[in-house]
Amino acid sequence: MTPSPTVRIATLALLALAVAACGESSGTATPKAPPPAPLTPEQIGVAIAALPTPYNDADYENGRRAFARCRACHTVTPGGPNMTGPNLYGVFGRAAGRHEGYNYSKALLAADFTWDGEQLDQWLANPRTFLPGNKMSFAGVPDDQDRRDLIAWLKIETSPR
Ligand code: HEC
Repeated sequence: MTPSPTVRIATLALLALAVAACGESSGTATPKAPPPAPLTPEQIGVAIAALPTPYNDADYENGRRAFARCRACHTVTPGGPNMTGPNLYGVFGRAAGRHEGYNYSKALLAADFTWDGEQLDQWLANPRTFLPGNKMSFAGVPDDQDRRDLIAWLKIETSPR
C-alpha cells in the first residue's frame, strides 16, 4: 500500500529536520574552548622581557612565523589535539615524552629530562642527533636566531597566561 500524501509529506519533513539537525550537530560535535585571544603588542613586550636571556631579546613575530614549520604536526593551544606530533601546550617544565594520550617513541619515553629553552634549542637544532631513535621526522631549524625566536614564541604561547 502506498502512503497517503499527508504521510509522505510528514516523512519528508521529518527527514529534512533530521538532516538539518545532523548538519548542526556535526559543527558542534567536538566542543572546543575558543583559542585564547591574540596578545596585544604591549602584552607581547612584557612577556618577552620577562623571559630569561637570550629569549628576552627575541623577535616574537619571527618566532610565530618560524612555527609554521611545526604546525603541520603540532598544536599549541590548551587541550589542542595531538596530530602527527603531540600537542605542545605546557611543554616547558614538563618531562619529555609525557603529554597525556600521545603515543611516543621508545626513545622519547625513555628520555629523562625536562623541557626548557636549552633542551629545546638542542632538540630543534637537530632532532635526530639530540635523541637518536625518536620519530619526529623533521630536519631541524638550523638558524640560531630563528630557534631563539621560535622558543620564545613557544614559551609564551604554551604557558598559562
Ligand atoms: C613531520 C611532523 C613534525 C614536525 C614538522 C615537527 N614535529 Fe615535533 N614531534 C613530532 C613527533 C612525531 C614527535 C614525537 C616524537 C617521538 O615520540 O619520538 C614530536 C615531538 C616534539 C616535542 C617533544 C614533546 C614532548 O612532549 O616531549 C617537541 C618539543 C616538538 N616536537 C617540537 C617541535 C617544534 C617546535 C617543531 C617545529 C620547529 C616541530 N616539533 C616540528 C612531529 C613533528
